[in-house]
Amino acid sequence: MTNPSALQDQSAFERAVIGTFFHAPTPQKLEVLADVMIVISPVGEITAIIGPDHPDRLAMETKPDIARMPPGTYVLPGMVDLHVHAPQYPQLGLALDEPLEVWLTKYTFPLEAQYADLAFANERYTTLVDDLLASGTTTALYFATQDREATKLLADICIAKGQRALVGKVVMDDPAACPENYRDESPVEAIADTRAVIDHIRSHKDNAGARVLPVITPRFIPSCTDEALQGLGALAAECGCHVQTHCSESDWAHGHVLERFGMTDAAALDSFGLLTRHTVLAHSNFLTADDMDRLAQRASGVAHCALSNIYFANSVFPLRAALERGVHVGLGTDVSGGPSSSMFNACLTTVQSSRMLEEGVDPALPAEQRGRKGSAVSLVTAFHLATAGGGIALDLPIGSFAIGQRFDAMAIDTTTNEGGIRLFGLSDPAAIFEKILYGATRANIETVWVDGRVVAGQAPA
Ligand code: GUN
Ligand code: FE
Repeated sequence: MTNPSALQDQSAFERAVIGTFFHAPTPQKLEVLADVMIVISPVGEITAIIGPDHPDRLAMETKPDIARMPPGTYVLPGMVDLHVHAPQYPQLGLALDEPLEVWLTKYTFPLEAQYADLAFANERYTTLVDDLLASGTTTALYFATQDREATKLLADICIAKGQRALVGKVVMDDPAACPENYRDESPVEAIADTRAVIDHIRSHKDNAGARVLPVITPRFIPSCTDEALQGLGALAAECGCHVQTHCSESDWAHGHVLERFGMTDAAALDSFGLLTRHTVLAHSNFLTADDMDRLAQRASGVAHCALSNIYFANSVFPLRAALERGVHVGLGTDVSGGPSSSMFNACLTTVQSSRMLEEGVDPALPAEQRGRKGSAVSLVTAFHLATAGGGIALDLPIGSFAIGQRFDAMAIDTTTNEGGIRLFGLSDPAAIFEKILYGATRANIETVWVDGRVVAGQAPA
């Protein structure tokens, strides 16, 4: 795993981290890189991974800017949250008593509308980005709001704080579905505002490395006119941006699209040119087998939001079936439909809900009729989806430790009394990994890096 050219090219050497690293480049296997030195270029790319017995290791360790993880600290890839509604953060843990279509108009649109006040937006978006970074979320795919200027502000905050982020102005222009004080005035205006946000992010003076990217973001088909969907599909083809929307989330949302277009949500999005290699569809619970094949063919991804689905989706996403049909899948918190912003929790809920789908939930049914066999996923698979899987869905070099990947990572201190991990002398790396995933709290997250730069926690000694 050594890249000898990096050893010779000293100009590429900026810094290195020495420690034990856990990652899951594939869904099947946890890999442990014990006592390795990861060399990171000035722009944050991993240029070499040097094992403990490499002949040049001792010489390399004399270089400046080497962070050595203390015993009991382990490094994981940063989490990739594929679905966050940034403006809904103040509502986290609240408003979970209504179905989706009521929740939107009763609670969520009124909250999001307030972000047109940029002082209101600045305070809440700043807190969100700080909190997500401190929780180990190094990449977030954000829905902002319908408001153009507040969306630019969210992108500015991510750029300033060093989070890797994809930010979309939400398009919602159908007067029949959206409140008068919170909607795009017309499809033309919605597309013009989307373009303005794309230009703002792409030309931002502090975003030359494109760590923050723009996203074309029709909220979901029920809130958009055909003209807006058509225009956004054309814009996606023109600018090559990422695309995000909600797809087949609940019985109601899925049924709305079937009734309006006589086809499934995924097929309708495809007809508008909205299924691309850079598309991420949130939820997608009611995908048919044909829809899954269509997504696999387009190389579009799904943001699986296991916790939110418990509250709003009327079902469990058939994750294993989607993976087996070749669909790219990552995990999302869906703040605030999902009442936790932690991607550690997203991993656990993914495992738990997959097991409930496998076993079934109605004790009145005989065991053999209760569930859908072949549905359960392992903790390692969930962790893969939360890291490398998210990177693949976004087509970004993140989520695992390999040459050419970006060094987006977090150091977990398993020894702090303030944290949630108690190892009692465990030494088996697979067991330590499980303890970390189940127990880590914010107090355990010692250092967070994006592109090799410390963006939260302590700079390592
Ligand atoms: N569908 C349309 N908008 C939303 C939203 O804000 N959250 C969720 N969970 N589903 C949606
Ligand atoms: Fe959502």
